[in-house]
Amino acid sequence: MSALPGSAEGTAVTGLDSSPVEPAPADLPPLTEQTRLEAREIIARYPVPRSALLPMLHLVQSYQGYVTPEGVGLCAEELGLTKAEVGAVATFYTMYKRRPTGRHLVSVCTNTLCAVLGGQRIFDAVAADLGVHHDETAADGSVTLEHAECLAACDYAPVVTVDYEFYDQQDVDSARELVAALRRGEKPLPTRGAPLTDFRGISRQLAGFSQHADAAAAAAAVDAAGELGPTLIGLRLAERRGEAAPPMPDSVSPSGGDAQAAERAGAAQADLDAPQPAGRDTGNGRAGTDTPAGTEPGTSGQGPSEKKA
Ligand code: FES
Repeated sequence: MSALPGSAEGTAVTGLDSSPVEPAPADLPPLTEQTRLEAREIIARYPVPRSALLPMLHLVQSYQGYVTPEGVGLCAEELGLTKAEVGAVATFYTMYKRRPTGRHLVSVCTNTLCAVLGGQRIFDAVAADLGVHHDETAADGSVTLEHAECLAACDYAPVVTVDYEFYDQQDVDSARELVAALRRGEKPLPTRGAPLTDFRGISRQLAGFSQHADAAAAAAAVDAAGELGPTLIGLRLAERRGEAAPPMPDSVSPSGGDAQAAERAGAAQADLDAPQPAGRDTGNGRAGTDTPAGTEPGTSGQGPSEKKA
């Protein structure tokens, strides 16, 4: 059982996890007026203030290394939410940390494909080198280690990420050397994507701010060239063998499949074009949100088609 971050007495429980929120270390610098101003800048990006909560949690994490009770309090104050509401979100997502995080976060995928190719052996070796278990930080504060479920890069298995940057096709030796380099203060180049920063830097980027000190540093942070080899192996093998995917059933249906597909597409479009009610009916007479469906960024207008009685 664990405490919700921000619960004053530290005794509230969720029953969903086993990671207690640690009180802030005595030497942790408090959040500043600058943090609060940046939080308001994030809020201003959204039509509904509470939509800003996720990047705000990354922001407080970028200053203090984890979501502290103070950070929960700041988010709650600025958004007009309770600390319990903020805590419920912060404890739901694994990217929000509940205890101080090391300079770097090393995530080792031990899900199915990575595991059969050595992911668990990598995790065990790195854990032994660091003297830690899952979600623990080395005594020198350099690295926090965690098991990760699929990191969405199965074609590059076994995969390790550092501060969410990819290090593909690792083995025990390469992963141990990677972590040793991090502990020496080095920042090995990821296999692809942006250069490595650190956990606080990537948290700042996830909050929507540049993690670079100035424009020159930002310009120097050039992404590694993409390399699609493992992703395209199946396609290239099929090409060599002269294989092709079978046609889609609708295009060969003797009973007019094309017409049926067009009919379905038309019906779907009509549904999208229909006027949508504002807000989500929570069943207790209160709207879940006062944002009209379809006006939130990133949505395509697909809201509930009718309110419950
Ligand atoms: S199983 Fe490891 S990245 Fe998908």
